[in-house]
Amino acid sequence: MVSNPGKRLISAGEVHVPIFLQMEIIKIKPAGKISGIVSVPGDKSISHRIAIIGSLADGVINVSGFLCSADCLATLTAVQALGVEVEGAGTPELKIHGVGLRGLKKPAGVLNLGNSGTGLRLLTGLVSGCPFDTELTGDESLRKRPMMRIIKPLTRMGTVISGIHCPLKIQGGHLRGIDYMSPVASAQVKSCVLIAGILAEKKTRLTEPVKSRDHTERLLSYLGADIKVDGLTVIVTGGVRLQARPVTVPGDISSAVFILAAPFMVPEGEVTVRGVGFNPTRTGIIGILTRMGADIKISRKDLSLGEPVVSIQARKSALKGIDITASEIPGLIDELPLIAVLATQAKGTTIVSGAEELRVKESDRIRNMAINLNKMGAAIEEKRDGWIIEGGRPLKGAVVSGFGDHRIAMAMVIAGLGASGATVIEGTEWINTSFPGFMDVIDKIRS
Ligand code: S3P
Repeated sequence: MVSNPGKRLISAGEVHVPIFLQMEIIKIKPAGKISGIVSVPGDKSISHRIAIIGSLADGVINVSGFLCSADCLATLTAVQALGVEVEGAGTPELKIHGVGLRGLKKPAGVLNLGNSGTGLRLLTGLVSGCPFDTELTGDESLRKRPMMRIIKPLTRMGTVISGIHCPLKIQGGHLRGIDYMSPVASAQVKSCVLIAGILAEKKTRLTEPVKSRDHTERLLSYLGADIKVDGLTVIVTGGVRLQARPVTVPGDISSAVFILAAPFMVPEGEVTVRGVGFNPTRTGIIGILTRMGADIKISRKDLSLGEPVVSIQARKSALKGIDITASEIPGLIDELPLIAVLATQAKGTTIVSGAEELRVKESDRIRNMAINLNKMGAAIEEKRDGWIIEGGRPLKGAVVSGFGDHRIAMAMVIAGLGASGATVIEGTEWINTSFPGFMDVIDKIRS
């Protein structure tokens, strides 16, 4: 049940972005069974990248499966404001008229990326290489998120940036390649630097402490960039033109897992999600679920953008608690709120450590998941860098919050399916950030 689905467009300078004005509340009743075969919208990470990197290509990129969520549409709007023609904006089928490496134009207003850290950080890399001033900002959550992680390398490359949080004022122009050792395993930092690197003089080398998702490297290579990956180091040569080629965006595994988790929260059932991108830097969650004892089957491997695309089936089975440690975190960073929910129903203790990055996501996910799940009767202890969760306590319905965070809101919907009584989730309008239509899929598979 959904109430107050109010949202409308407001303007921020010349650039229009969707802002959610009214809180939406969803009331979830427990489900007895999950069944169905469904698909999920396009991958958020790939959609951002095709909008941003595609704008620099020579020629028209035909895109299918673009994610029409608030975050990716904010990025697309920003790219249009930089002078890129996009046919079909607002639909999954796009034609992005790339303007080449030097063809972007000064935007008429501030670029407002709403809630999107990926959009903001990658676009900052892009405009750093452009010979004009740009201002980028975001919503209340984005204005609090750490930006020094991109400001440091971009400044070394020659960009002048004022602000340490959004709004950021960027004086872009002449960039030089750098050799950068990133202190965080962050695909957003890596991609920001690589995108600046393709606009810079000479080579840019970036080394990360643990491998993060590699969609930028794959897309750049697919479009003809000179890019090499050597273990944890990526090297890109500046000034190499990108060629337009068609792109099909696979379903987002980070969305699919919310659906795949549902059978484990209810008495019986199974569900299949088709057409899911299965990039090895994103599949950490499947390994974790399997270690927890989840009955998961992967089938039908195709390739898109050089990345596997699969069907994933999840069937109800008993779960057990496990330890999840620092080196595993980058491969499942967005799935941790959901893992916390599943761990409440597993036999034994789950310990998540090395996940302090969760505190600087769209909200403080460590704290907020502990608040919500404790309210529902779980035994979850907040640690500096993760949680200790004693599994096996039945969840009971409560009034919980989405905390302005799409993944927390969706995780609580899944928790509600397995709770006794009704769970009321406040602030579910944020689900549209990454998974428009999520509740329709849940309504379809539950009974
Ligand atoms: C993303 C990278 C991750 C992830 C985010 C999407 C990306 O963030 O949490 O949802 O598309 O590059 P970090 O790179 O900051 O860990």
